[in-house]
Amino acid sequence: MKILSVIGARPQFIKCAPLSRELRKSHEDILVHTGQHYDHNMSDVFFKELGIPEPDYNLGIGSATQGEQTGKMLTAIEKLLINEGPDMVLVYGDTNSTIAGSLAASKLHIPVAHVEAGLRSFDRTMPEEINRIVTDHVSDLLFCPTETAVTNLGNEGITEGVHNVGDVMMDALQYNIKIAGDKSTILDDLGLSHQDFMIATVHRASNTDSIENLSSIVKAFCSVDTNIVFPVHPRTEKYLRQYGLWDKLSEHVNVISPVGYLDMLKLMSSSRKILTDSGGVQKEAYMLGVPCITMRDNTEWVETVDDGWNILVGADCGMIVDAIDGFKGAGVKGNVFGSGDACDKICTILKESS
Ligand code: UD1
Ligand code: UDP
Repeated sequence: MKILSVIGARPQFIKCAPLSRELRKSHEDILVHTGQHYDHNMSDVFFKELGIPEPDYNLGIGSATQGEQTGKMLTAIEKLLINEGPDMVLVYGDTNSTIAGSLAASKLHIPVAHVEAGLRSFDRTMPEEINRIVTDHVSDLLFCPTETAVTNLGNEGITEGVHNVGDVMMDALQYNIKIAGDKSTILDDLGLSHQDFMIATVHRASNTDSIENLSSIVKAFCSVDTNIVFPVHPRTEKYLRQYGLWDKLSEHVNVISPVGYLDMLKLMSSSRKILTDSGGVQKEAYMLGVPCITMRDNTEWVETVDDGWNILVGADCGMIVDAIDGFKGAGVKGNVFGSGDACDKICTILKESS
């Protein structure tokens, strides 16, 4: 089968690495990078260290408002699909690259496969929630990472082509965790020891685009007695500077540039607790058995909260501080994200459907 995969943002490179490797064993996989993320440490680093093939096309769309960015992608992907004529378009997750790929394909009557289908935060102020809903409703094959995702789709009347295959991020983590242990020198580079710090990531629009929320998060980080390593997403850096918060970060908050996946795995697995508003990082914390403090009011990854490994604290300074000091994380973990064979299962289903 001729598959055209659309990727464009950091988490999609990580998800695509194990699946593309598996896909190429039995299918033609044309890789399209929309260019949504373009800095070296938001894009190239993942292709290099995870062995993702050079994209066949880079659309170079770059940053813009929601509509402009999605519109430019839609136009460019449509042209490409007409020229390439793939049998199927594969999209990942919930970014603007996802919705552009799925919309362009479905309007040309090209079947769409959605990896990480069925997730819902039930918060339509998130651009990602709109991307998820639209993509799921135009997809023909829906690869769910969890049973909750299957239920969410059922509640919206989507039952055909739905498969719970587990999470491709589990495959990525299992494949890379030992490599990260062997190769990453990040702890030495930053002068850190195992468990003497907490890692933090922040990039969700609800936190970065609100001076109240971002100030509250910064205040919380600065007022605790714990070393915090903070690889700063470019969106967050922009707003930290714009709001005059950049220079207010205390010395124990170690601000660094975004890191590659291997360094990230090393940092997360050595961290006492993880502070984040990222979707992927919440899951990885659970997979690694590290307590997670999520600076959001809701999550798509409800199992991590239900099992006691994740706590939702919003952007509330007091709640963040309390969780940094007191949240422990539970002792039991279920097998909610599968066992690391999601890519294998996806390829089998794709083969059967061709
Ligand atoms: C996007 C996704 C989000 C995902 C995140 C992963 C959407 C709507 N959002 O959010 O779901 O969790 O990626 O990281 O698709 N920028 C750079 N260099 C880059 C990339 C971005 O400087 O390489 C800056 C630009 O100022 C840009 C801003 O970051 O305007 C936001 O980038 P964008 O891709 O629009 O959204 P993210 O916040 O990264
Ligand atoms: N990540 C990374 N380097 C960083 C921050 C995150 O490699 O500096 C990885 C992280 O381990 C996870 C993925 O990026 O695999 C999550 O991406 P992000 O938080 O940007 O997006 P989300 O998952 O929220 O869509």
